[in-house]
Amino acid sequence: MKEYGAYALDLPIVAAGYAEACIQVDWQVMDTIESAAFPLLWLRDHCACDACRHPQTYERTQFIIDLDPACLEVAPAIDVADGHLGLTWSDGHVSRFDAGWLYRLRPHQQAWQPSIVPANRAWAENFSAHRTDFDDYMAGGGARLDWLHALCRDGFAILQNGPSEGGEIDRVAATIGPIRATNFGGRFEVFSKPKPNNAAYTALGLELHTDLTNWKNPPDIQMLYCLANDAQGGESIFADGVAVAEALRQQDPEAFRLLAETAIDCRFADEDSDIVVRATVIHLDEHDQVIEVRFNNWLRDNLRLPPAQIMPWYRAYLAFWKILRSPRYRLDLRLAAGEMVAFDNRRVLHGRKSFDPQTGRRHLQGCYVDYDMVESALRVTARQSHDASV
Ligand code: OGA
Ligand code: ZN
Ligand code: ZN
Repeated sequence: MKEYGAYALDLPIVAAGYAEACIQVDWQVMDTIESAAFPLLWLRDHCACDACRHPQTYERTQFIIDLDPACLEVAPAIDVADGHLGLTWSDGHVSRFDAGWLYRLRPHQQAWQPSIVPANRAWAENFSAHRTDFDDYMAGGGARLDWLHALCRDGFAILQNGPSEGGEIDRVAATIGPIRATNFGGRFEVFSKPKPNNAAYTALGLELHTDLTNWKNPPDIQMLYCLANDAQGGESIFADGVAVAEALRQQDPEAFRLLAETAIDCRFADEDSDIVVRATVIHLDEHDQVIEVRFNNWLRDNLRLPPAQIMPWYRAYLAFWKILRSPRYRLDLRLAAGEMVAFDNRRVLHGRKSFDPQTGRRHLQGCYVDYDMVESALRVTARQSHDASV
């Protein structure tokens, strides 16, 4: 079948028959027979012949809208002599379906095909981050797979013992996908600058925050690679926004609702750009699950709300902030040269303690990559690891 990755299973089709516009298929699975019914239209739509799928890109090139519906009204001729499903349709078209591929797609069994991308797991108390040596990650295989898995699940993962020359972050990003550029450029340098246009480029402490809350689509994964951290201070702080928002939901449901329903203005402006969005602090999905937290005190613009909402909103915001500051939700660590943190900027807040640039150098390189590409890297690495083991 036209698909990347392995699916072959030694599960021969032992019988197939036509009933009610479906093909009923029976597989021999160990010493039992398992069955599933596939609608004719589904089968024709999934035909893998070179006329229906491009032989190189594997993309679907036939369109069922152009199919003569009459050919679905007649039972196709069925052939399972070689253990796979062959169909000859009434318009003469011939399709062949691999038995293992078809087994994996049994319509009533989709749940047994778990997504390789893990669900978010809120940080427990005393959360300890997944760590992988830089060289092991770069070598690919199981170490990279585990690291990407942890990054998706925890929204946080660390690479350690890497080189401390500049530019390594580009090599890490290249294992995932293109760098997502913003008004601060592609790769950005975090150190105390003479003319900062952003609090990160000073020696100030940074309250826990998410980056670029003033964008409609803030960057997903942020990577910060430490080249030097010799100054006094400058320790890093992180917190899982989902865990904090869930704590707020428990402790103060009204505040939680307000932050999830009241959009506020966020804005970044300098000489070259003026980027504004109106968005809520907490974002929920259709199942009322927290999927994003946007919290950034520098980018929070003038508060424009109807009079009756101003004080309740502040109360809710401060209630969230208070939980955020509680040690229960904080992860403190000091980045060493050659260490890189990656975190989900839509979920995990980051910050740092102030540092004294007179006492030593502190230099991080940062960039963002899209979550889609992290998931893609996870799938491709899994596919390669699997291919290597078969
Ligand atoms: C940033 C940032 C943290 C740090 O660049 O967005 O928050 O440790 N930096 O300097
Ligand atoms: Zn075909
Ligand atoms: Zn930041």
